[in-house]
Amino acid sequence: MQFPYPIGMEGSGLIHKVGKDRVDFKEGDRVAFVGVTEPKGGSYAEFMALGRKSLVVAIPSKMSFIEAAAIPVSANTMIKVIKALKLNPDDTLFIAGGSGSNGTFAIQLAKDIGCKIAASASKKNHSYMESLGVIKSVDYQDPDWIEQVLEWMPGGVDAAIAIQPNTSMLSMKVVKDGGKIISVSGDQFTTQRNIKSIYFPYKMDVNEELIGIIDKIASKEINITIEKVYDFEDGLDALEKVRTRRARGKSIIEVNK
Ligand SMILES: NC(=O)c1ccc[n+]([C@@H]2O[C@H](COP(=O)([O-])OP(=O)(O)OC[C@H]3O[C@@H](n4cnc5c(N)ncnc54)[C@H](OP(=O)(O)O)[C@@H]3O)[C@@H](O)[C@H]2O)c1
Repeated sequence: MQFPYPIGMEGSGLIHKVGKDRVDFKEGDRVAFVGVTEPKGGSYAEFMALGRKSLVVAIPSKMSFIEAAAIPVSANTMIKVIKALKLNPDDTLFIAGGSGSNGTFAIQLAKDIGCKIAASASKKNHSYMESLGVIKSVDYQDPDWIEQVLEWMPGGVDAAIAIQPNTSMLSMKVVKDGGKIISVSGDQFTTQRNIKSIYFPYKMDVNEELIGIIDKIASKEINITIEKVYDFEDGLDALEKVRTRRARGKSIIEVNK
C-alpha cells in the first residue's frame, strides 16, 4: 500500500461505479461492506474501492447508513463464532464482554438458538445485556465473578466466547470439563480439563446469514446499539474511545453527511 493510506475495514454507502469484477451491484445501490486490505485504502474516506474478495451486501431502504455501518464486521464474526461452537437449544454459554459490538450480536444469536446465557461487563451494562437475552450478568471487576457463574451453573457452562483480550484463561474457569471455548481476540492459551479451543475461519463468506441479520435489524427483531456518531474531523476521538474498551455497542464515523 502507498502512504498516506486511509484506514477502516467496514462501512456503508452508495455504489458509485461498478468494475468488471462486481457485476452483482449497480450504481446507486445502498450497501454495507467489509473490505479486505484494499490497495487503494480503507473506509475512512469518501470513496472506497472494493475488490472481488470484499463482502458487500445490499441494505433495505428503511435502514440508515449509520445503522448499516455498525453491522458487517461484528455480525460476520459472531455468525462464524456461533456456528463454530455448534450450540444446541438449552446449552449454557458464557460471554466475556457482552456489552460491546460483538457481545451485542453474540447474545442475540445465541438466544435465538435457545441458549441460556451468562455474560460479563461492568454493572452499568448489566440491564443492557439482560434486555438482549442474558440471564446471569456478572461484573468482571468483582473478585468472585467466577464463583457467581458457577453458582448459577454448577459444574460449568457448555461453552464460552472470550471476546475481550486476555479473558480466555479466566473464561475457561467457568466452562465444564470437556466443554468448548472460542477466543476472538487472538489470546494465546492452553486448554485444561479436556476443554476444546474452537477455531473459526475469518472469511467473508456469510452473505446469506448476514442479509438475514440485516433484515432482522431493519424489522427490529435484532437490536444494535450505536455508542456515538462522530464527525470525520473527530475520528481520532472515536478511535480513542474504542481503545478504552468501554464503548457500548459500536462507534461510527460519518464521512458524508
Ligand atoms: N477475530 C475477529 O474476526 C474479530 C472481529 C472483530 C473484533 N474482534 C476482537 O473483538 C474484541 C473487541 O470486541 P468488541 O468490539 O465487541 O469490544 P468493545 O466494543 O471494545 O467492547 C467494549 C465492551 O466490553 C466491556 N468490557 C471491557 N473490558 C472487559 C472485560 N475485561 N471483560 C468483560 N467485558 C469487558 C465494556 O463494558 P464495561 O464498560 O461495562 O466495562 C464495553 O461495553 C477485540 O479483541 C477484537 O480484536 C475480533
